[in-house]
Amino acid sequence: MTTPQFTQLYQHNAAAVAQELLHGLSAPQAYTSPKYLYDALGSRLFEAITELPEYDLTRTEAQLMRLHTPDMAEHLPAGACWVDLGAGNCEKAGRLLGPMQAARYVAVDISVDFVRQALGNLQHQHPGLPMAGLGTDFSAGLDLPDALALDPAQPRVLFYPGSSIGNFTPEQALGFLQSLHRACGTAAGSGLLIGVDLLKDPAELAAAYDDALGVTAAFDLNLLLHINRLVGSDFAVRDWQHLSRFNAAQSRVEMHLKARHALRVRWPGGERAFAAGETIHTENAYKWQVPSFAALLQASGFSSTQVWTDAAQRFAVFWAQS
Ligand code: AVI
Repeated sequence: MTTPQFTQLYQHNAAAVAQELLHGLSAPQAYTSPKYLYDALGSRLFEAITELPEYDLTRTEAQLMRLHTPDMAEHLPAGACWVDLGAGNCEKAGRLLGPMQAARYVAVDISVDFVRQALGNLQHQHPGLPMAGLGTDFSAGLDLPDALALDPAQPRVLFYPGSSIGNFTPEQALGFLQSLHRACGTAAGSGLLIGVDLLKDPAELAAAYDDALGVTAAFDLNLLLHINRLVGSDFAVRDWQHLSRFNAAQSRVEMHLKARHALRVRWPGGERAFAAGETIHTENAYKWQVPSFAALLQASGFSSTQVWTDAAQRFAVFWAQS
């Protein structure tokens, strides 16, 4: 058994991060990128969200994958290189590598430190399977570096579960999926296996993003502590309230942080006043329908699509061949 190799492309650039955050916080409708929800505590809070009764997205996807593994194995290429996007604890892909007869596994995440441990454990379970880790911020598009020495003749399965695609606007999603299509390479049989949360009853969606225990509220509010560390601002968590609303026209759940009263936030070199009730838009979670997402995959360059959904059409897993 060999130790997986790591390639670290992502370098934290404090000045660029501060510039991006302050640009959003100073906009008329203040906003932040959802990626800032995930510091160490935010990642743990998100894991807790996936166990909430109101948030069944992760469980429904896992059930779908389990139930349809044999059928998926007939559509997906055996002997492929699996590229796990946002691999985290590597658990979701870990369950599929054996049944899908993967020949190589590449875990991609912005934080290789987090993935390193998980990849080590996975390597123990699959001692003969070549594995590698790649630390990169792929939110603006995926580029697979030469350092990975991918075999152009080996089919690739790009794996993007969890409906993270829902956190992109449709325009961003198109550009992102086009980059995934390019990253599939030229070997026959390659493609993208992607999980997508579907449009459902707005009341259920509202509860999924504003649970009774307040875990999602903590996840959203924790962003303020993270921003304070990143830009040196003086956000006080108690001044803010988590808000989730379903925007039917855009088919998306929006998360906002709402100022409880008029206040001022200061950071080195600047400040912003917020009126009572004014919000910071912290996340969009788009909810797709099967035909519109299939059309998006086609517009991104993928040729044929296969889809698996649960009986209640709550979630869909698409296999899109490049
Ligand atoms: C990671 N992403 C798909 C989650 C979602 O459902 O949009 C993040 C999340 N935000 C609030 N709850 C969960």
